[in-house]
Amino acid sequence: MTMNKTRHLVNLALIGFMGTGKSAVGWLVAEQLHFDYLDTDEMIQSRTGRSIADIFEKDGELAFRKLEQQLVEELAARKRTVISTGGGLPTLTANLASLEAHALVVCLWASPEKIWERVRNQTHRPLLSGPNPQLKIRELLAAREPFYRQADVLINTDLRSAREVAQQVIHQFKLAQSGKR
Ligand code: S3P
Repeated sequence: MTMNKTRHLVNLALIGFMGTGKSAVGWLVAEQLHFDYLDTDEMIQSRTGRSIADIFEKDGELAFRKLEQQLVEELAARKRTVISTGGGLPTLTANLASLEAHALVVCLWASPEKIWERVRNQTHRPLLSGPNPQLKIRELLAAREPFYRQADVLINTDLRSAREVAQQVIHQFKLAQSGKR
């Protein structure tokens, strides 16, 4: 990520593929730092009064991405907030650029096998509701990897509990705030 712009690291943004633990980790981090917690998917659902699956089905993915983008722009006004983002949000370069102005951007990474293990019993994700979700995970993850890699910090969650990942995130955030990263 380019570091030559002025950045005010008052917030912490978690990006990463579905099933990498952004929500679970985000909650723990927010609790320990005494920050607010915000989840972009939850905000979109509460604002529209609709589920993500319904938005995808009736309006299409592009409409959902527009709602995400609008929301990201508003997040610049937040302070002391852990922002957990939907898995596809950083694929729009403008979204990442917007987040990086006010937040340390941490990507939670996992292998396709681990992701499948974590999401296989869940049904709320429209992008994984097709006939071959395992293949879809591999394809989407490969396509998105260059975006995820633009994060300030990348943490592999395959062999770590949410609590362990949260500790790493907090450690990196404190380092970044003290200017040591
Ligand atoms: C998506 C991830 C989901 C949600 C939507 C699309 C994606 O969020 O935003 O279903 O494109 O990867 P989670 O990463 O929280 O599951």
